[in-house]
Amino acid sequence: MRKPYIAGNWKMNMTPSEGAVFAKELAKAVEGTNTKVMVAPPYVTIPAVVEALKGSDIIVAAQNMSDNLKGAFTGEVSATMLKDLGITNVILGHSERRALYGENDAFINRKVLLALSEGMEVDLCIGETLEEREAGKLEEVLSRQVEEGLKGVSAEQMQHITLAYEPVWAIGTGKTATPEDADAAHAFVRSLVEKLYNKGVAEELIIQYGGSVKASNVKALMSKEHIDGALVGGASLSVEQFLPIVNFDK
Ligand code: 13P
Repeated sequence: MRKPYIAGNWKMNMTPSEGAVFAKELAKAVEGTNTKVMVAPPYVTIPAVVEALKGSDIIVAAQNMSDNLKGAFTGEVSATMLKDLGITNVILGHSERRALYGENDAFINRKVLLALSEGMEVDLCIGETLEEREAGKLEEVLSRQVEEGLKGVSAEQMQHITLAYEPVWAIGTGKTATPEDADAAHAFVRSLVEKLYNKGVAEELIIQYGGSVKASNVKALMSKEHIDGALVGGASLSVEQFLPIVNFDK
């Protein structure tokens, strides 16, 4: 049985003071939920959010991390630093990191392996651009991102991996993949994971959908067999919009 997992990626939004106020309000609102809930604030906002969420089950994650543990890497933040703040979850390979900051599969894979070896939980993002989808390359792109992103990850370590399927053309555009299209992509990814690992790993794997998820479409998406959660951007920035997403089953 895969437990629903709803995550909010705040991207470059929320100052530490805003994040703390928001987190307190969210914690109160989601108290008692059966859904796993995560928020990913910007680095500098993390400490304030961790403090505000003391006593809550909401997980705090980083949106990225360095592929090194320490040293001369100006502007980077390491797993060691995150762990010192109590952070053990990290989003890796987000399409904005890939498209705007040149992160490729090999680089993302290095971070995935480092995060796992540091005992962290990884939310690995994958997804095709519109151009790739229209050129009939959906499966080719997803195969490459999954195979290369997870290279060297053992079946045992797969319990620390969540995948987030985020079609790039659906991110921040208001265009959501239809539940059927998203489910088909998720089913493809699950079958790929079964080929790479085994049936047990594939069946346990949580695959989130991301891309313009909102209160009005979350139910239909979550009703699909292979959609186990959501990675939410814009709609995770207000409790009013995020709460009905967390409560999709109510
Ligand atoms: P939106 O929900 O704003 O489309 O963003 C999705 C996303 O990129 C989450 O990581």
